[in-house]
Amino acid sequence: MKHIAVLTSGGDAPGMNAAIRAVVRTAIHEKVEISGVIRGYKGLIGGDIVDLSARSVDNIMQRGGTMLYSARCLAFMEPEGRAQAAEHLRQRGIEGLIVIGGNGSFQGAHLLSKEHGVKVVGIPGTIDNDIYGTDVTIGFNTAMNIALDAIDRLRDTADSHDRLFLVEVMGRHSGHIALNVGLAGGAEEILVPERDYDVEEMVKSIAAGRLRGRSSSIIVVAEGAAKGGAMAIEEHIEAASGYEVRTSILGHVQRGGSPSTRDRVLASRLGYHAVKALLSGESDVMVGVDKRGTVFVPLRETWEKQKEIEWSLYDINKILAG
Ligand code: F6P
Repeated sequence: MKHIAVLTSGGDAPGMNAAIRAVVRTAIHEKVEISGVIRGYKGLIGGDIVDLSARSVDNIMQRGGTMLYSARCLAFMEPEGRAQAAEHLRQRGIEGLIVIGGNGSFQGAHLLSKEHGVKVVGIPGTIDNDIYGTDVTIGFNTAMNIALDAIDRLRDTADSHDRLFLVEVMGRHSGHIALNVGLAGGAEEILVPERDYDVEEMVKSIAAGRLRGRSSSIIVVAEGAAKGGAMAIEEHIEAASGYEVRTSILGHVQRGGSPSTRDRVLASRLGYHAVKALLSGESDVMVGVDKRGTVFVPLRETWEKQKEIEWSLYDINKILAG
């Protein structure tokens, strides 16, 4: 393989730049030409592809976002879109593609490989950590740190007013962020999309905490835990209890800012291994990490199999919430 390309796709995640840097510098070390696709699959369909050098990725590691920009591209879900994209790669002599994104992006990569013979390797990049086959994804650690910092600040003001606070964190389909920051932030309750909740039960347990002398309460809510998110839950709780509830929706602030050490290290490691894998003939796989070290997982498994949240943390929190 003489020429490969890299793109970022779907929601951006802090650490994506560190992964791009690792891909570019490893490719150059291996004497392989490297190109960057602008705005993910949208740019691939439109032929928006630029040459990259070791200098193109100077001083990007500490920056959030992605220097290659990102997009969610519906046209790539259609065969015609993928055919156009493959043609742009062929015209430039690009034989391999590294896709940094979530499992929706990996589905696109899988189809591109199957239909057009392009070699593809995926790198898991999403703050949601909801990708099967890797213990962690790029951006998860940074997003948790941002959310936890916000929860700590909210605790101060919640305590001063004896208030009940709902804090909505990201996670449309998964509660990995909610569960971890809930436990780390001392939340009384954690609501995740993977489990139904009962408002009456929640109100009872908060009332019991108040009787034990608790003055403030924080409930961490994953955005997908209820239709309408934390705002809808606020209404239910107020109606059921009469508590003074305040809701903070952290939103996209969790996706920005400088990546943590952990995310930079993870991204550097995965970027390096993705290039090595592509050059040694691997394709249609994601590079991830688990207790064995660096692992390669068939792309198909990343969306066909479900990554469980760590339920033991949920149970531990019930006890520690006191
Ligand atoms: O995929 C990561 C994520 O941040 C989710 O947590 C969130 O639900 C979604 O992206 C938001 O997407 P968008 O930025 O397109 O609104």
